[in-house]
Amino acid sequence: GDYHGRYRPQVHFSPPKHFMNDPNGMFRDDEGVWHLYYQYNPTGVVAGNQHWGHATSEDLYHWLNQPIALFPPNKTQYVFSGSAVTDPNNTSGFFPNQKNGVVAIYTLAEYGQDGSPGPQTQAIAYSRDGGYTFIPYHNNPVIPSNSSQFRDPKVIWYKHHWVMVVAYAQEFEIGIFTSPDLKEWTHASNFSNSGLLTLQWECPNLVQMPYLDSQGKKQDDMWLLAISVNPGAPLGGSIAQYYPGHFNGTHFTAVDNAARIADFGKDNYAGQFFYGTAEDELPVYLGWASNWQYTQVVPTGEEGWRSAMTVPRRCYLTKAKRVGWKLVTEPYSLDPVMGSQLATSNSLVNDSLTVDFSRVDSNAIYWEANITSIPQTGISGSATLNFTLIAATTGEFVRGGYYLGGDNPFFLDRGGAKGFDDVFFTDKFSTNSLIDGDSWRMSGIVDRSILEVFLDGGIDSATVNYFTTQPLTLMVLGTSDMPKGANVSVRVHALESAWA
Ligand code: FRU
Repeated sequence: GDYHGRYRPQVHFSPPKHFMNDPNGMFRDDEGVWHLYYQYNPTGVVAGNQHWGHATSEDLYHWLNQPIALFPPNKTQYVFSGSAVTDPNNTSGFFPNQKNGVVAIYTLAEYGQDGSPGPQTQAIAYSRDGGYTFIPYHNNPVIPSNSSQFRDPKVIWYKHHWVMVVAYAQEFEIGIFTSPDLKEWTHASNFSNSGLLTLQWECPNLVQMPYLDSQGKKQDDMWLLAISVNPGAPLGGSIAQYYPGHFNGTHFTAVDNAARIADFGKDNYAGQFFYGTAEDELPVYLGWASNWQYTQVVPTGEEGWRSAMTVPRRCYLTKAKRVGWKLVTEPYSLDPVMGSQLATSNSLVNDSLTVDFSRVDSNAIYWEANITSIPQTGISGSATLNFTLIAATTGEFVRGGYYLGGDNPFFLDRGGAKGFDDVFFTDKFSTNSLIDGDSWRMSGIVDRSILEVFLDGGIDSATVNYFTTQPLTLMVLGTSDMPKGANVSVRVHALESAWA
């Protein structure tokens, strides 16, 4: 692939060529290599003809594109989303002589001659070379069905058996199945909830989650059920929602009926958690950084590719003061791509800092801003921390800002980027990020066509694509009307291309 184009992210994964959507089959192998598969159309820049593309990485930023891992078995079935697990104990019987067996569990989606959707069934394939090539199981499907809306199996190991969550997409229900061997599956329960229904539930993920209480103290682990919803997300199109809760091996119970959205932007869908992260590591998540509402019409660049993944993120649950349960996500260590410091200030109080990053080859940067010693009272309604990213040659911009007073709104605005115009390409996003204690912080990554921001240590985050006609080259960070006593420190770093 050519990774030099205008919109080509430099620290995010994007496919060598053609169209990508959901991450699939994410697992970490016994040598510590991260495997990412993805919904892939190897013959076009729009969705369709679904295969599983494949890439591997040792640090989650530098990816090696691998040959396609799963192919449609025939002309009427496509390989839809799913997951993968390692089977070192040979529960499946596929791996009598090895420890590094991998089983992929995915949906076979059938289409009639006229393109009408047929049954969606769950199938498996096994890999004896550590996840690079797969052999479909001769007895597929392992879960038959007549429904055209039954897909996206995600499998984990629980104590003594395998557990699958799979979506009855238009019934707002997640099926939970168990199996001793990945071949014979027994229906155990269904999860439904009055949270956010929309039209379809897709790509469920069930994962054990560390829980840090509002004081930051580690409590007993919880479970998290993440469900992607499309169309009908609150901001339009598709987004991920999640339920914190409890799981006993067969049943998942949510803590409540609230709808919790994982991202206050619009471009974070169908995410997965890696299978096989080390016990002492936080779960690692990565999502498809796009939205079904406009993904097939956004600019592709001359190299003919579409869509990128979010940066990998470490996750845990917390109970934030006043707002309750929150899934916290922060970038997985950026050290492998962290470049030189471009600018810093230890007292950006009622002042601004302009950073010219036109000489940064990757055109990607990272920044952090920390506000400390925030007083309890005397905060003016106009006290703000702002950032603006500007294309110096055209004046196009993407910006965001935080109001310290009132309900603590944070806003993002991609409306100043003129490289793409579409009625669904919403410009403005916001959330409330309440100050807990006397400090607040923000960090961000901007990477040619993707912006991700993390508020208050990742309690809130947003992922948005943007398309400027010319590269962003200037960043202005500033504060105004700051309350007496508060201090602001900021730093801005170049990011080094993982694809150069
Ligand atoms: C979600 C999704 C899945 C399906 C896949 C097909 O984005 O619609 O439900 O398996 O994409 O590419």
